[in-house]
Amino acid sequence: TRTPVNVTVTGAAGQIGYALLFRIASGQLLGPDTPIRLRLLEIPQAVKAAEGTAMELDDCAFPLLSGIDISDDASVAFDGCNVALLVGARPRTKGMERGDLLEANGGIFGPQGKAINDHAADDVRVLVVGNPANTNALIAQRHAPDVPAERFTAMTRLDHNRALSQLAKKTGVAVSEIRRLTIWGNHSATQYPDVFHAEVAGKNAAEAVNDEQWLADTFIPTVAKRGAAIIEARGASSAASAANAAVDHVHTWVHGTAEGDWTSAGVVSDGSYGVPEGLISSFPVTAKDGRFEIVQGLEINEFSRGRIDASVQELVDERTAVTELGLI
Ligand code: NAI
Repeated sequence: TRTPVNVTVTGAAGQIGYALLFRIASGQLLGPDTPIRLRLLEIPQAVKAAEGTAMELDDCAFPLLSGIDISDDASVAFDGCNVALLVGARPRTKGMERGDLLEANGGIFGPQGKAINDHAADDVRVLVVGNPANTNALIAQRHAPDVPAERFTAMTRLDHNRALSQLAKKTGVAVSEIRRLTIWGNHSATQYPDVFHAEVAGKNAAEAVNDEQWLADTFIPTVAKRGAAIIEARGASSAASAANAAVDHVHTWVHGTAEGDWTSAGVVSDGSYGVPEGLISSFPVTAKDGRFEIVQGLEINEFSRGRIDASVQELVDERTAVTELGLI
């Protein structure tokens, strides 16, 4: 039998945690041959709720689940960690300024980054889901100097999947017939879903749509503001779809992208496409042998350029803010 892979999930007692843990334990994250040990990290007040979720995980009798540990101590939860899903974060509450939000999350993601640096396994891979995801990932990465920077990623796969679905509806094809869609920039309302390199049933997507006004006025805002629309309709934020995207992100990272296709992920910029080096920005990425690679050489038209630049500028501003706050 194989040694279990240690999967650490923070914010395990939250909404996304509840949708995510069962998918991981059932084998959907790493595949049907990989036993898993779950390491749950919560704040002290939520440990009891996490224990309740762990009872339900026990009651599923998942064949691949070899154990569950629950802790409120990051050095314990990240000990030997191979895959870290950083979901727990400080949400924006009424009257909170952006600086307060960044500071509160710096207080979470800085120490978690350090705990990963000091205690995780050599092959650790980190996905940050908790918002502001890109900048939280940057903070964690900067506190983990001994871990290769490329192992820290931020989730834009939910945005990617939302864009796939909207484009499939508009063009009347199955999502499986769409390839090479890209989310650029920040996981925020400034993100840019780009169809200009995408293919719909083998045809260029922008030509298949042939409606620039729909792209600008409907598609882009629908994707970018989908989170708010879900809250409005459901009375609670997207949780199952976020958990699904986290599963997709890690599964792709480990198992690779299909030949000729790519996906979107927040990864450390190497300076490609004018995105300043070191920022964690969403790019078109392929995955192979457990590594993400930024797709190179795409031509960026004028429509796309301004939108990519605006979202990247927001990331630059967030980085400046957390630098000034002494968080990185
Ligand atoms: P939630 O509020 O239901 O759960 C968050 C959990 O994190 C709580 O149980 C809380 O106790 C825990 N937590 C807080 N600080 C912690 C710490 N220092 N260590 C460990 N656990 C801690 O929130 P939900 O709905 O599960 O969402 C989690 C995060 O994911 C939010 O920041 C949300 O904005 C973000 N999100 C990101 C998406 C993306 O596409 N990147 C999509 C949807 C949500």
